[in-house]
Amino acid sequence: MPNSPTQIQLIQPDDWHLHIRDGAIMRDVLADTARQFARAIIMPNLKPPVTAVELAHAYRSRIEANLKSLGINDFEPLMTLYLTDNTSADEVRKAKAEGIVGFKLYPAGATTNSDAGVTDIRHCYKALEAMQEVGMPFLVHGEVTHSEIDIFDREAVFIDQILEPLRRDFPQLKIVFEHITTKQAAHYVRDALTAGNTIAATITPQHLLMNRNAIFSGGIRPHNYCLPVLKREEHRVALLEAATSGNPRFFLGTDSAPHAKGDKEAACGCAGCYSAFNALGLYAEAFESVNRLEKLEGFASFFGPDFYSLPRNSKKITLKKQAQSIPQELPLGDATIVPLRAGETIAWSLV
Ligand code: NCD
Ligand code: ZN
Repeated sequence: MPNSPTQIQLIQPDDWHLHIRDGAIMRDVLADTARQFARAIIMPNLKPPVTAVELAHAYRSRIEANLKSLGINDFEPLMTLYLTDNTSADEVRKAKAEGIVGFKLYPAGATTNSDAGVTDIRHCYKALEAMQEVGMPFLVHGEVTHSEIDIFDREAVFIDQILEPLRRDFPQLKIVFEHITTKQAAHYVRDALTAGNTIAATITPQHLLMNRNAIFSGGIRPHNYCLPVLKREEHRVALLEAATSGNPRFFLGTDSAPHAKGDKEAACGCAGCYSAFNALGLYAEAFESVNRLEKLEGFASFFGPDFYSLPRNSKKITLKKQAQSIPQELPLGDATIVPLRAGETIAWSLV
């Protein structure tokens, strides 16, 4: 492949970290994702959260009804459960038997709808033992939540205080360190000694393309605010290096997290960037910025299914170097949403 191609073909990607919410807005956001991706891991932080297999089945049925009404029949939602202090080992075994692909750790208070999350990981040891035993992936939001820890340090402190002891106690547990944002996390995942393929990380487009200045450029920019929050430039550079390195431990997870415009542009605005509208264009731009477009397919289409022991997709898609204008707003049920890079252009489009 030449160094700066104007068109690239790749096996259709999957999104290994996605929020699509529920009710009236789900239809709008699902359409954006299903245009680009074959499958997506559906995060369970609804209100109330998806804490049991029966709830996940019901959520999946609502997703399927929306897909049907959109006329989409080639998109597969991959369901997850929200871990709580009370999740039983039996629920883990049942989840495995019924096709749930992972349990998600939300430390209580860490992010959107995390109130029911885990207050102390030690409360979850029976559930974690069962996950390790049955090979159920454990998806972690890797931030500590103590108010005395600086928000920019929460991920790095999580590695020392929670992740490293967890990996010592459960050496065979399959862990995905979700939406990593720091050099420390990228290096931790890269360098972790594992008995097998037991740790990986997802990386969002916003953390590859922006640093924390983007939250404050010329005034406060609520649409660039997500959790874990954007970090300094040195961290962005380390994440971009990890994503484009060809190391199968790093793969695509947009963390596209829709919130209505009014809930973002508020005195206490919600955390989350809506990247689903042209997520693949954003990733292509990031990979092109370091002349590594040829590494995009592994990151976007191969390493995720390999980690989750799912088949790779077979259909191909084409991305073209053709500037696409991103609208100022998109419909979101009865409201609107401001997509990432609203009012700007993205250099790559899906053909
Ligand atoms: C996510 C959301 O809104 O559900 N927000 C975010 O900023 N990423 C939750 C999450 O993944 O932390
Ligand atoms: Zn998320």
